[in-house]
Amino acid sequence: MSYRETYAACAADPDTWWMHEAEALDWVKKPSRALFADKAPLYEWFADGEINTCWNAVDRHVEGGRGAQTAIIWDSAVTGQVEKISYSDLRDRTARLAGALQARGIGKGDRVLIYMPMIPETMVAMLACARIGAIHSVVFGGFASPELATRIDDATPKAILAASCGIEPGRIVRYKPLLDAALEISKHQPDLCVIFQRPQEAADLREGRDHEWHAFQKDAPLADCVPVAGNHPAYILYTSGTTGQPKGVVRHTAGHLVAVNWSMKNIYGMKPGDVFWTASDLGWVVGHSFICYGPLVHGNTTVLFEGKPVGTPDAGTYWRVVQDHQVAALFTAPTAFRAIRRDDPEGALIGKYDLSSLRTLFLAGERADPDTIRWAEEKLHRPVVDHWWQTETGWPIAANPVGLEALPVKPGSPSMPMPGYRVEVLDDQGQPLPPGELGAIAIRLPLPPGTLPTLWQAEARFRKSYLEAFPGYYETGDAGYMDEDGYVYIMARTDDVINVAGHRLSTGAMEEVLLSHPDVAECAVIGAADALKGQTPIGLLCLNRGTTRPEAEIVTECVALMREKIGPVADFRKAVVTERLPKTRSGKILRSTMVKLADGEAVKPPATIDDPAILNEIALALGRIGYPAKA
Ligand code: COA
Ligand code: AMP
Repeated sequence: MSYRETYAACAADPDTWWMHEAEALDWVKKPSRALFADKAPLYEWFADGEINTCWNAVDRHVEGGRGAQTAIIWDSAVTGQVEKISYSDLRDRTARLAGALQARGIGKGDRVLIYMPMIPETMVAMLACARIGAIHSVVFGGFASPELATRIDDATPKAILAASCGIEPGRIVRYKPLLDAALEISKHQPDLCVIFQRPQEAADLREGRDHEWHAFQKDAPLADCVPVAGNHPAYILYTSGTTGQPKGVVRHTAGHLVAVNWSMKNIYGMKPGDVFWTASDLGWVVGHSFICYGPLVHGNTTVLFEGKPVGTPDAGTYWRVVQDHQVAALFTAPTAFRAIRRDDPEGALIGKYDLSSLRTLFLAGERADPDTIRWAEEKLHRPVVDHWWQTETGWPIAANPVGLEALPVKPGSPSMPMPGYRVEVLDDQGQPLPPGELGAIAIRLPLPPGTLPTLWQAEARFRKSYLEAFPGYYETGDAGYMDEDGYVYIMARTDDVINVAGHRLSTGAMEEVLLSHPDVAECAVIGAADALKGQTPIGLLCLNRGTTRPEAEIVTECVALMREKIGPVADFRKAVVTERLPKTRSGKILRSTMVKLADGEAVKPPATIDDPAILNEIALALGRIGYPAKA
């Protein structure tokens, strides 16, 4: 079937279409139907079925004769280690950890927080939770203690699984002290912590609360897979919103499995047994869906890579991994390619490796600029597929589904909506706009299986954040347009979220941190264009009257404060002091006008501006920190 036929078949009879796709999985009890709309506009999928994620991701492949196939290839460019784990081995390791957790009273519905780097034990931890119906919440290692504490308080985990450290180029990230500090400030305390001691850094364990990873599991019984309802939360993943309080995106079990399984075959064009490599992090949705669950559910071998696209040791690392592990498809963020291109503009290192196994390159996580796509196509001689999605959706909203049908590529567009996603472009009043006109991108409800049904313990916030602006639709927070052929173009966010090196960050959360500095009276954080990272955050600070301390000192403290409160992932390096901020007459800070100034675009003072003269002051302030940046 062609893409258009498939999309139309799903739109005409979603229930039959999704029930058919659900047959690709093993069920303990088949659902009676696909869509449950009785609580509309809140929807659920396959709610009355019974299923287990770990069974579908691991055990059934062993039962089906794939036990000896490699499930995970761990390639650590920062330690020089490579480890291959078969499906049988993965089942045993997962069942053992699950058994140990069960023995400590952790079971269906209990939350388990995972704060671990890119090592196989992190995937074992995620799958062990899935095995016993515990709900995991993985927290990215680049977040600092206060962010970790916020997530601990929101998810209230019974157990925390962590590693002693992560490894960033040139430095060890000591996770355990960060975890200890988080538990000092969180109100909630877990019953236990289980710590994987990496040889690079042994952590101190706290008697009574902390357990060493291997000792904890020694003699534990192997746990069976526990059936859960189709609408049982598989995991909570926190993502940035407009405020400092992150949103806990909930993923229901069955829809997730159906959606990622469909994506592996139809979007990524994978056959079971193929090697699939997503160069991202397990702490992000991309890592959940396409390092861990998607490839395993679909019977692929997944590459778990600990390293960077450049500097570990050079811009040829990705090509070395493709060659060594016979990677069939690589999925990464455009920023990784910009980094590779910067270090190896001619692509000389690409020629040093045998890339014959590689069929397609997939890019997502941020806007893929046509220039980067062109460079990748030219140097790799392979199709480069941009696709668009979000933590909330869990799988691509728009893509070029090369497994189904390779659509004509239009540079700058992640192609067409995937089955079940009825994408529309709306004006401020919620009216659909004609092709070519820029507006808010919304998806007509219900969203397809695998997408978020709600936010963890925050249904009112879910409704307010996503469903209220355009009744009958899910608001994506992205702005853009669709062309005559139905191709989608994503141009910008409509909220205070910025995207730095494929990492989604909240400028609102950063402003809250800056305001906690005793000398800062008012501030704004904006995302300025960055040739490598897509965007970079810049702080504009107004100081309290009478502050006599040197501005440079305050700026340095603000940069340090951001690292301490949000973490290195915020990548907040530049701030500047200004007398005042541009505002509308009603007092709203004109952030987008400042973004234009930072990006060197022509700025026409908005009609609502209180005092146009201030734009000159802001331009001068930005000039002092090198903006607009020279190309
Ligand atoms: N744990 C702890 N710290 C981390 C971290 C982690 N898992 N990941 C990143 N950091 C730190 C980095 O060490 C860096 O710290 P520093 O300020 O001490 O240098 C800071 O966070 C910013 O990191 P990053 O944005 O990764 O910048 P970089 O300069 O180290 O590397 C790139 C630039 C382009 C190579 C890198 O951003 C990259 O590989 N991007 C791809 C991102 C990606 O895959 N995103 C997933 C979405 S699909
Ligand atoms: P995250 O939830 O971290 O995956 O970030 C999702 C956001 O990243 C989206 O809402 C977009 O703003 C942006 N994004 C992701 N993929 C793309 C893409 N292919 N093109 C443009 N923007 C993208």
